[in-house]
Amino acid sequence: MAERITAERITEVLPWGRSFDEYRAMFDLDGRPFARAGAAPRVLDVGGGPASFTAEAVERGWQAVACDPLYAHDKAAIEGRIEAARAQIMALVRAEPERFVWTSIESPDALERLRLAAMARFLEDYETGREAGRYRTEALPALGLPDDSVDLALASHLLFLYSAQWDAAFHLAAVRELARVAAEVRVFPLLDMAGRTSAHLEPVLAALRAAGYGAEVLPVPYAFQRGGDRMLRVTRRA
Ligand SMILES: C[S@@+](CC[C@H](N)C(=O)[O-])C[C@H]1O[C@@H](n2cnc3c(N)ncnc32)[C@H](O)[C@@H]1O
Repeated sequence: MAERITAERITEVLPWGRSFDEYRAMFDLDGRPFARAGAAPRVLDVGGGPASFTAEAVERGWQAVACDPLYAHDKAAIEGRIEAARAQIMALVRAEPERFVWTSIESPDALERLRLAAMARFLEDYETGREAGRYRTEALPALGLPDDSVDLALASHLLFLYSAQWDAAFHLAAVRELARVAAEVRVFPLLDMAGRTSAHLEPVLAALRAAGYGAEVLPVPYAFQRGGDRMLRVTRRA
């Protein structure tokens, strides 16, 4: 009998990308404004991978940049990695559909179509965007971007999700690094791969507050992992 695929067996951080509309909901971009009044928003998508957020944000006139170690690879290599990730992720979703909320995305097939469309949009933009400097080969917990160079840093499906791979100290260092670069940091989801609130969340919140940051957990109008409808919002001053 084939071995059952479970979320805990995904131990590598896989390239798998979401769209601007999903980012808008995951980070409540409409409900909680962030940009300087009257100016084009400056945003960083850390661990942006093959998400189309940056490409679509630039289309809207935003100043958007994404950082990911994935961008060391050329387009063909990234396409190959996406294909490998697709097999793993879709097998997991089809094996354990009860872990997910099937409302705005109604089925595994719809999910696959949505994600592939977002990643195709990323791939279209990738070579031009890399040349223009918006896809930067960088990895947390240390980024090369200058202090206070963006209004908002977003981390989607990177921190907390891979809680088994990275400890609380890594998470804290990563969030502090994002808060160095950005006036505000938002992280989603707060669940680990097994769908439980990350064990690192409370220690990271406590350490951030003790260091003088504003750190709060807020509801967002998005859930796909069951129970995953909250984000962490961090600002430099409490
Ligand atoms: C599951 S994908 C999420 C992509 C995108 N943020 C989204 O939600 O659609 C996670 C991404 O994190 C990247 N990654 C892995 N380690 C990283 C690190 N230390 N710093 C930044 N990104 C990292 C991976 O290469 C991968 O592209």
